[in-house]
Amino acid sequence: MFITFEGMDGAGKTTQIRLLQEKLERAGARVCVTREPGGAQVAERVRALLLDPALDMAPLTEAYLYAAARAEHVRRVIRPALERGEVVLCDRYLDSSLAYQGYGRGLGAENVRALNAAAVAGCLPQRTYLLLLPEARASQRRRQRGEAPDRIESAGAEFLRRVEAGFRALAAQEPERIRCIDASASPEAVFARIAADFDALS
Ligand code: TYD
Repeated sequence: MFITFEGMDGAGKTTQIRLLQEKLERAGARVCVTREPGGAQVAERVRALLLDPALDMAPLTEAYLYAAARAEHVRRVIRPALERGEVVLCDRYLDSSLAYQGYGRGLGAENVRALNAAAVAGCLPQRTYLLLLPEARASQRRRQRGEAPDRIESAGAEFLRRVEAGFRALAAQEPERIRCIDASASPEAVFARIAADFDALS
């Protein structure tokens, strides 16, 4: 089973992934937790390029680099784990490219989907949890964590608004797969929603 978590930085994806991992492991499942961009050696190097605030790159270059990291991640980590019968929980995946590069950078979601087709090679999540939090709250959480903004986060408020609208549009197009989760409640309350949905899925 392949499950992804999406949303703006600061929405609480990492905490929710950890809670689902713990629940699954308690039930005896083998779980592979991974993230994008990254998750494999070459993909982590590409991640460093993508997030370096000192670099400037064309939107299409950015989209191809995310897709290149994903090609590696699918072949080295995600597909092998699925073949071993593990549950894969991934922090960001294809929907992030559609939202950030497709909507945010203005490349168009369908163009970005097309240039990712060979990278994902049919390896698509059964369920995606989209954690939604007003951008003001998300940026407050990022500041509280004391994180310096990466190159993508530094692209400005207007860009982040387009990304968030993009995520919502994707969820509206695929309501069966993408579940919108209000991430403004406590982590436990947010997880209760995810767990209830997940139990109905499995
Ligand atoms: P992430 O690892 O979630 O950031 P952080 O560790 O700071 O929470 O993702 C890094 C950035 O990459 C994030 O701003 C979103 C962006 N991103 C894209 O623009 N496209 C993509 O396809 C992916 C996977 C991430």
